[in-house]
Amino acid sequence: MTRVLVLQGPNLDLLGTREPEIYGRDTLQDIHAGLAARAAELGLEIAFFQSNHEGALIDRLHVRDFEVAIVNGAGLTHTSVSLRDALLAIERPFWEVHLSDPWKRDAFRQVNFLHDIAAVTIAGHGARGYTEALEQIAARFGGAA
Ligand code: DQA
Repeated sequence: MTRVLVLQGPNLDLLGTREPEIYGRDTLQDIHAGLAARAAELGLEIAFFQSNHEGALIDRLHVRDFEVAIVNGAGLTHTSVSLRDALLAIERPFWEVHLSDPWKRDAFRQVNFLHDIAAVTIAGHGARGYTEALEQIAARFGGAA
């Protein structure tokens, strides 16, 4: 069974109350519960990890106990050479997901250290973007069936 890691960067633990006009009202738990249910339907194994610490995210990637990842690097997307290097080092394809569309926001969000190494980028679809990523992964890598 294909194993998917959902990696969530800084401040995404505050979803639901964090700038809801930009990021929506779903909490991270809501999003993860929806993904767990959809993964079960698709025959994918799924694990979740959120941290506000760059090193913790990198350490989690180094475990390499998954075939493919869904990554919302949050603010680290725009700053972190180290997160980029880790994603290259582990040699696992990943789907980059953003709730908002950073390319339509502040100039500093146009800098993106992950985009060119992501298999696919989904931005601006809100929480639905994670489900779309999961469905694309199931189509590409197959589920249990
Ligand atoms: C984000 C977009 C980033 O620019 C921002 O720093 C975040 C969330 C998104 O999901 O829209 O923290 O990755």
